[in-house]
Amino acid sequence: MIIRNCRNKFSKLCNMEGNRFSSLVKKYNQPVARYTSYPTVPFWKDNIPAIEWKEAFQQQFFQHNSREGISLYIHLPFCESLCTYCGCNKKITTNHSVEDVYLDALEKEWKLYRSLMKETPLLRELHLGGGTPTFFSPKNLERMMKFISDRSILHPRHEFSVEGHPNNTTKKHLETLYKWGFRRISYGVQDHDPEVQRIINRIQPVENVKRATEEARAVGFKSVNFDLIYGLPKQTLQSIEKTIQQTIELRPDRIAFYSYAHVPWTSRGQRLFDENDLPSPEDKIQLYLKGKELFTAAGYADIGMDHFALPQDDLYKTWENGSLHRNFMGYTTQNTSVLLGLGVSSISDVGSAFAQNKKALSEYYAVIAKNEIPVQKGFFLNDEDRRFRNYILAISCKGKTIFNEADIPALKQYSFPELKQLEEDGLVKWNEKGLIVTIPGRQFIRNICRAFDLHLLRNQQVSELPVFSKAI
Ligand SMILES: C[S@@+](CC[C@H](N)C(=O)[O-])C[C@H]1O[C@@H](n2cnc3c(N)ncnc32)[C@H](O)[C@@H]1O
Ligand code: SF4
Repeated sequence: MIIRNCRNKFSKLCNMEGNRFSSLVKKYNQPVARYTSYPTVPFWKDNIPAIEWKEAFQQQFFQHNSREGISLYIHLPFCESLCTYCGCNKKITTNHSVEDVYLDALEKEWKLYRSLMKETPLLRELHLGGGTPTFFSPKNLERMMKFISDRSILHPRHEFSVEGHPNNTTKKHLETLYKWGFRRISYGVQDHDPEVQRIINRIQPVENVKRATEEARAVGFKSVNFDLIYGLPKQTLQSIEKTIQQTIELRPDRIAFYSYAHVPWTSRGQRLFDENDLPSPEDKIQLYLKGKELFTAAGYADIGMDHFALPQDDLYKTWENGSLHRNFMGYTTQNTSVLLGLGVSSISDVGSAFAQNKKALSEYYAVIAKNEIPVQKGFFLNDEDRRFRNYILAISCKGKTIFNEADIPALKQYSFPELKQLEEDGLVKWNEKGLIVTIPGRQFIRNICRAFDLHLLRNQQVSELPVFSKAI
């Protein structure tokens, strides 16, 4: 029944006049943030006082740890070869001796945070991201899990997940992680087409993806996610259709169907291919629509912001019951008040403040060696920031929000003029009490969130505004 509704919604979208839809795409395909945080990272301050960050962390930890538990994100930055499209914070090396050095630093960082925790941490959510976590040997992942879980308590509903590269995730990796409580794995698949793989420097036969998926299931992982990207160089409607068919055959429980973010000014690898090989914005949206059509026809529900899930998956269930949450790890089924990021470039979020670790490995090591918390930049939120953050979160996760009286003056000045425009284009319905995203509006969630980005809107006149990837 629910799936049928999704299909109906989708066919309504398809029925939108073709020209009108593509003119909306042209209009809204501007650089805009992904809103995994508000305020967005470019508005954070460099060199925030570590003492204030530690206080904010301690306060939230004491308030929430014993009741709801905490989330941990651990960044494992190494990869053996460079995928040219990649926008992640990674370090390319084939020298595996880096594993021990990195784990030594990570262990020290965890101990520094443990000294701030006056009670035993209750681990509810743990995500290993990268880079490539499966670059590390199973033995070293075991070592890491030992020091992380030493004198920690596992929350009864803990959820541990890992990002794996299909080319190097072995059965031993999977068995080790399973033993430590991991039940979710996300594989970077990106595209199955050999020509696309050649140009993005990621040769990954479909057999590898099949093997890694089947092994994860055989070991006992209960949710397998695939990351796919649309808008990669050399992708065509035909090639993406085949990639999606091959994906559907393997039946991942979740699919992240990301829009390729072209940011060559920060991700230098993206300068290694010819920009002329990239699909035009119009072709890119056709690639997306083809994916959406095929995924929904195969029984996947569109969760929003490029995420699809099968009805038996928890992500779908939380989306259905309105408890879906979004943070730096993307969409999640858990919602804790403390997210602690460990490792180079990791981001922490304690509700009242954000902090990001040093982004350069050498600097991260140097600060840890001095027994200091390696924070590079961050932001302390005021009450208004928190309320606008909640509007953005509710729009991203539930497709609707209710306004707080205290914000009416700011909303009138900055958000309502933007909403008028979005409403004229049929993307939202709103009044002074709140807002609801329409079905066509679901394609433009980032643009709708932008209407509540007071930091951006108040700085419209300033010439040096941050440059994000385009919305589509
Ligand atoms: C850390 S990687 C995944 C794990 C592992 N390193 C791998 O590649 O299989 C996280 C994901 O970010 C996505 N990603 C990376 N660069 C991107 C870009 N420029 N645009 C869109 N998505 C991107 C990819 O889908 C990738 O799977
Ligand atoms: S996509 Fe994954 S494997 Fe490739 S460079 Fe980025 S983080 Fe490394």
